[in-house]
Formats: sequence, structure tokens, C-alpha cells
Amino acid sequence: MASRRNVLKAGARSAASMVPLMLGLPACGQTVACEGPVEAASDRPLRAQAEDRGLLFGVAADRGALEGDLSYAQSIAAECSLLTPENDMKWQALRPKPDSFAFDDADWLVTFAEENGLRVHGHTLAWHYQLPDWFETTVDSANASSFLRDHIETVVGRYAGRVRSWDVVNEAIEPQDGRDDGLRRTPWLQRLGPDYIDLAYHAAAEADPDAVLVYNDYDIEYEGGYFEDRRRHLLDLLTGMVERGVPIHALGVQSHLRGHHQPEFDSFIAFLAEVADLGLDLMVTELDVRDHELAADVAERDCGVAATYQAYLDAVLDQPRLRSLAVWGLSDRYSWLSEFEPRDDGLPVRPLPLDREMKRKPAWNAISKALAG
Ligand code: XIL
Repeated sequence: MASRRNVLKAGARSAASMVPLMLGLPACGQTVACEGPVEAASDRPLRAQAEDRGLLFGVAADRGALEGDLSYAQSIAAECSLLTPENDMKWQALRPKPDSFAFDDADWLVTFAEENGLRVHGHTLAWHYQLPDWFETTVDSANASSFLRDHIETVVGRYAGRVRSWDVVNEAIEPQDGRDDGLRRTPWLQRLGPDYIDLAYHAAAEADPDAVLVYNDYDIEYEGGYFEDRRRHLLDLLTGMVERGVPIHALGVQSHLRGHHQPEFDSFIAFLAEVADLGLDLMVTELDVRDHELAADVAERDCGVAATYQAYLDAVLDQPRLRSLAVWGLSDRYSWLSEFEPRDDGLPVRPLPLDREMKRKPAWNAISKALAG
């Protein structure tokens, strides 16, 4: 394992010489402003282009993919300056049993990041999903706060100084759950009430006073009532936390975009300005573009995906408090959407900047162009 990581170091820059794809792209469907070929601003790695703007360029990945696929590991080492464990730091991964921790995969990832010059963004300490099987029967309202506190102290404490930022609470908003405050009825909320959120941030700050503590959520990017509702409740949540003196430093916007949506982000940008006015930084944490409702034709589909990346980034990159921009997987070979949002026609999804052969796609060019913009 250590030797695999060392090999990587030597080969880390090789993907930097890849030539950007310049396809002659036709116009796409009506909802996406897709105006032909997207040209990259530069063929330098995205980490360098992001650095020009003072941003980190991040990616989510797990040990399994990085250790098992040298071409993927090399591409990530070449293109990225920030690494988020896609699954390896979730409760399900770290907590095989109520009284023990399993750090092998997370340790491997953090070491991989350090040896290849990437920072680590931890993900995630309190979430309703990917909890271990034992959780439901073992954690109750009497012991939940000590489970949450112990977990955070142990995990954040272990990586203090090595994991520089954390998605402390993930996806706590769900207005459709019917509460007045818009909070999701998560296993944590059911046991502890809304206080679980503040508790998690205080525990993280105690375990690593220097860590950047982030609140992370999804579906706040587009126009329309569903998104508006989520933004309103999220702003209320963040405002309350800041007023109570809870140690929170940034909002993570997941940015799982939809290639078939009208790419209009005015309300979202106004919302981000309000969040920044609270004194919080901004991070794009899980960017990708769903293509399951776009044309089967690959060139047309790639064009729509690229146009979505560009429209979104053109809007978001202007935010003065934006600190990082991360994609949820770098290559289409490793997208969660293959499983979570597959296409009806069975064709492989193409939501990420590199194709399955680690070649740069129009989406890569669009990110480059937006970063230069
Ligand atoms: C996803 C992973 O990518 C999948 O591999 C896993 O099966 C489910 O979780 N929002 C989040 C991420 O905050 O943790 C999710 O990651 C994607 C949506």
C-alpha cells in the first residue's frame, strides 16, 4: 500500500499533459444553454487553475477506487488539491460496532492525500444516512448525546491538524418532513431534538479548535418553491446558529446539478450573499451534473452537461467568500449517479469532468473556462 502511494507521487503530474477535448458539438435541448464547443482556458491541471483564483479544487473518492485503479489515483493527484472521503469517514465505515472504530481506510486516504499534496475535507459527522446497522437498536434518547459526542471527539481528535475542515452536520433540512423549522426528522433529531446540531459543532470545535466547521446540504441551487423553501429554512438554521455563538464557519453547497433544469441561479446567488453576510465562508462540496434526462447522443449530452457546469460556475465563482470547489468523483468510471440516477436507456452516465478512460471531457473544459472567467 505504501509503495502504491509512492509510485503515485512519481507519476502524479502525468495527467497534466492530457490535451483537452475539442468536439464539434451540436446544440442541445431547450432547457440548457448549450452553444457549441466549450474550449478550455488552459490545459494546466484544474488545481493550478483554481489556485489562480485562490481556490482549492477538490474531489470525493474512497480508498477502494484509489488503491485499485492507478490511472484514477494519478488523475486525482494531478488535477486536485483537496480530497473528501466519499464514504470512508461515514459512521457506517468508521463504526463496525458500538464500542469500536475502524480507521484503516480513512487513515489510508489521509496518507494518500498528504503524500500527493492534497488537503483533506472530512465527511461527515452527523447524518441520517449510512448509519451502521446497530444504530437503530443501540442508540436511544438517553445515550445519543454521548454517542455523538464520543464519535466526534474520537474522529476529529484523531485527525486534528490533518483533516483541515469537516462537514459536521449533513442534510439536516427537509421541509417535506412537516416540521415548522424545516428540520429533517433524522435518527439524531428523533433522539435529541434540534439540539443535536449545536452539540455536534461544539464537540468538533473542542476536538480540533483549528478545523473549519461546515454545514453541508443539497437542493438549494435552483429557482422554484421546493428550492426556495429549503433555502429559507436553511438560512433560518444558519442565522440561529450564528446568533447562538455556535462554532460554524462555512456553508457547503453540495451542487448535485441537473442537466435538464433551466440553469438560472439568481435566487441562489442572492441566498449565498445572505449567508456570507452572516460571516460564513462558502464551499462547493459535491458538484456533478445528472444527465439521465439528456439525449443519448454522447456529444450532445456532454455539451449539455458542460453548459450546466459553466452556467453554475459562472454564477458561483464570483462569490468573494468561496473557498473551494469540489466534484463528487473525477471520472465517470466512479460516479455515484451510475447507481443513484441511472439512465432509462441503460447507457452509462457522464456527469463528471473526465470520461471512463480518464480523458478530459467538455465538462472539464467548462470548469477551466469558468475558472478563467
Ligand atoms: C454517496 C456516495 O457517493 C455513494 O457511494 C453512497 O452509496 C451514498 O452516498 N450527498 C452526500 C454524500 O452528502 O455523502 C453522498 O454520497 C451523495 C449525496
